[in-house]
Amino acid sequence: MNIYSAPLQGFTEAVWRNVHSRVFGGIDCYFTPFLRYEHGEIRSKDIRDVERKNNSAKRLVPQIIVADKNEMARLLDLIRREGYERVDINMGCPFPLQARRRCGAGILPYPEHVAEIMNEVRLNSDIVFSLKMRLGWSDKNEWKNLLPVINETPLSHVTMHPRLGVQQYKGTVDIEAFSEFYNECLHPVVYNGDLLSLSDIKRIENDFPCLDGIMLGRGLLANPALGIEYMNGKELGNKELAALVRKMHDEIYDVMVQRLQGNTQFLSKLKPY
Ligand SMILES: Cc1cc2nc3c(=O)[nH]c(=O)nc-3n(C[C@H](O)[C@H](O)[C@H](O)COP(=O)(O)O)c2cc1C
Repeated sequence: MNIYSAPLQGFTEAVWRNVHSRVFGGIDCYFTPFLRYEHGEIRSKDIRDVERKNNSAKRLVPQIIVADKNEMARLLDLIRREGYERVDINMGCPFPLQARRRCGAGILPYPEHVAEIMNEVRLNSDIVFSLKMRLGWSDKNEWKNLLPVINETPLSHVTMHPRLGVQQYKGTVDIEAFSEFYNECLHPVVYNGDLLSLSDIKRIENDFPCLDGIMLGRGLLANPALGIEYMNGKELGNKELAALVRKMHDEIYDVMVQRLQGNTQFLSKLKPY
């Protein structure tokens, strides 16, 4: 199975990805937090996050969130300019600001709208696209209306986070519904959601042996060794893990200290790690 690092706005930014890949590794591919085209521009902070000169993780895929083909064209311009060949489309973000624009998970109740975006995927055939989605916005069967068009679109894989948009990150993941999706999706499937330990990963691998991979989000933030533990087939000892976490924090510190001003700003950025 491939091990992917999930996009998490505010956390898995270039600094974290660069340092994580250097200190821990164990990740086949990192995904950037979503890029958006908003108020006629792409935020400079988001541009910096995907610029090649700021990224050292070997395999990196930019993620985009789009309402229409114009937004998509603007974002693909930047991505092509930076020489990326793969792009992930976000159809899972539950934040109301995005959902109201029929973006992220807010697009899931609208099959025609998904079909429009999938048509753009077909038209931009120089890029290999993947999709990250939820079961639906408010109904766990919404994906069933989308699957025909998703199955017909050339995609490298589909990542499924089996919650609803309205749940945000609350409640439990719906493994039964995921199982249905896994059986019906014709693309390679990646599982994402609530994998916090090596035994969680092994359970999913055992239950879904044909998975293309798993995507680790909060579990990888909490234990940055999770990917390497899977690759080695065993957990890291406490001492070794503590030493590596220390090294990771020291390296993040070294980068951040040059950028952030004052202890308050610095602490609010570093403390969540
Ligand atoms: C703070 C935060 C920011 C996130 N940002 C993104 C994002 O930019 N793009 C995306 O596809 N998912 C985003 N997600 C969702 C995660 O990628 C992942 O799907 C979710 O956390 C479930 O996986 P996990 O249980 O392994 O964390 C975010 C989640 C959180 C908690």
